Amino acid sequence: MNEQIVILDFGSQYTQVIARRIRECNVYSTILRFDTPAVQIAALKPSGIILSGGPSSVYAKDAPLPDKNIFALGVPVLGICFGVQLLAQFLGGKVEKGQKREYGKGILKVKDPSCALFRGLPEQLQVWNSHGDKLTKLPRGFKPVAVTENSPFAAIENRAQKLFGLQFHPEVVHTPRGSEIISNFVHKICGCGKSWNMRNYVEQAVAEIRRQVGGEKVILGLSGGVDSSVAAALLHKAIGSQLTCIFVNNGVLRAREAETVQEVFGKHFRIKLKYVDASKRFLSKLRGITDPERKRKIIGAEFIRVFDDAVIELAKGIPNCELRIANRGSRIRNSKFEIRKYKFLAQGTLYPDVIESVPIAGNPAAMIKSHHNVGGLPKNMKFQLVEPLKCLFKDEVRLLGLELGLPKEIVYRQPFPGPGLAVRCLGEVTPEKLKVLRRADAIIVEEMKASGLYYKTWQTFGVLLPVRSVGVQGDERTYDWTLVIRAVESQDGMTADWVKLPYDLLEKISLRITNEVRGLNRVVLDLTSKPPGTIEWE
Ligand code: XMP
Repeated sequence: MNEQIVILDFGSQYTQVIARRIRECNVYSTILRFDTPAVQIAALKPSGIILSGGPSSVYAKDAPLPDKNIFALGVPVLGICFGVQLLAQFLGGKVEKGQKREYGKGILKVKDPSCALFRGLPEQLQVWNSHGDKLTKLPRGFKPVAVTENSPFAAIENRAQKLFGLQFHPEVVHTPRGSEIISNFVHKICGCGKSWNMRNYVEQAVAEIRRQVGGEKVILGLSGGVDSSVAAALLHKAIGSQLTCIFVNNGVLRAREAETVQEVFGKHFRIKLKYVDASKRFLSKLRGITDPERKRKIIGAEFIRVFDDAVIELAKGIPNCELRIANRGSRIRNSKFEIRKYKFLAQGTLYPDVIESVPIAGNPAAMIKSHHNVGGLPKNMKFQLVEPLKCLFKDEVRLLGLELGLPKEIVYRQPFPGPGLAVRCLGEVTPEKLKVLRRADAIIVEEMKASGLYYKTWQTFGVLLPVRSVGVQGDERTYDWTLVIRAVESQDGMTADWVKLPYDLLEKISLRITNEVRGLNRVVLDLTSKPPGTIEWE
């Protein structure tokens, strides 16, 4: 078995971030419920144990408490935030309500640089705090190794017994050198090597999917985006022909999108793929609609109906698919189709989609954000969910995609909104406008790729303004629409800066668009960041 670190989850929103940091150290980790019995933990032969933070106070009546025998396993333990308070209280120290909550940035001063946690680090570090209670007395055998302005016990150790505690959060990005502290714990203190990698992750994920799904069939809504594509490739590796993907062409896709998905997944991976061309259905519903939110709602609702119909067709065995799906959705019940077997729906949900306190690894304090990867699936579809990416972050999902052999074009694809070109085609969406936008957008993408900048920007695309202006092309006077070039840089789509693309690239794009796309005679550049603008125009 791999060397591994066990993380006991006390309900912190950062538990998965700790796991991620350990993966970054090329070490395997397992997240377990806070009260997992010590014998069960010992059976895993962990190289170390980390106690996560958590929203509770160690004094609260219903505080989550670990099995106290974990401190006697002879395995190094690192308590983080609530975890260090637990550790101290269990071993005879004292925790009290702090005079004031210590929240946000702090400066840590390392008093004992010989502590292995801080090896190779400077004596002053920026750290991130988030705690109300504080340690006021250390248990026997412990000594402080670092302090902050508000805490003389910001980092503590019992070197002989290999027990450590940090009052701050080393796992978050606001503790810039925190990964090194975790790396020191994992490598220097627990003695782990660097043997774990994405290939191992694939093996584990495959085993886990097989365990969950058994011999049953799984359906997945494939959008062609990174998340659902990686989920599809992983599931296919795990269960092969038990997986069927549904890809819906909603009529507002970009140029060659439907073809690419069919080529990559149908031909290359030989995944069972049901391609549903529902473009006419969507476009007729969108006729005459100009309000952006109504466009979104119509596309979302229609997607559910189309997906539903596709599932019924598959379940009925048309065309040539013997998928057996139990689905208690009202439409399916009404269809008088006899439902025979149970069911799995796979989704490419990522960790950031699963928020705050979550029943990850059985943590009780939990709520999952309603997440809709492919335009929103109906709540009454009572599938059991398979979410093989839900412990991963976006950049890890990309690495996983590469490991699974997905092409770079899919793995590093820019985000594309569920309502597609409908929110980039201002006002009413018509086939004519879509045709023009698709061509112009394809030119932008092509030139961005040729310049090497496509994969360095968050999103770059065209927006069609149904505003006519006078132009002159050849010897002819034209009166045509306007195309906006939108290029933004962002970490998460929440805020964004417009990108200063090189003039010669902009010139090339503009020239090609006005020369090659009929219906456009003017190209403009969007210089708006978010806020105050949004990334999409609608
Ligand atoms: P905005 O326009 O709100 O976009 O600044 C932020 C990010 O979200 C994407 N986006 C959407 N994605 N359905 C989606 O799946 C939508 O309705 C939607 N609207 C915006 C957008 O492309 C950007 O990455």
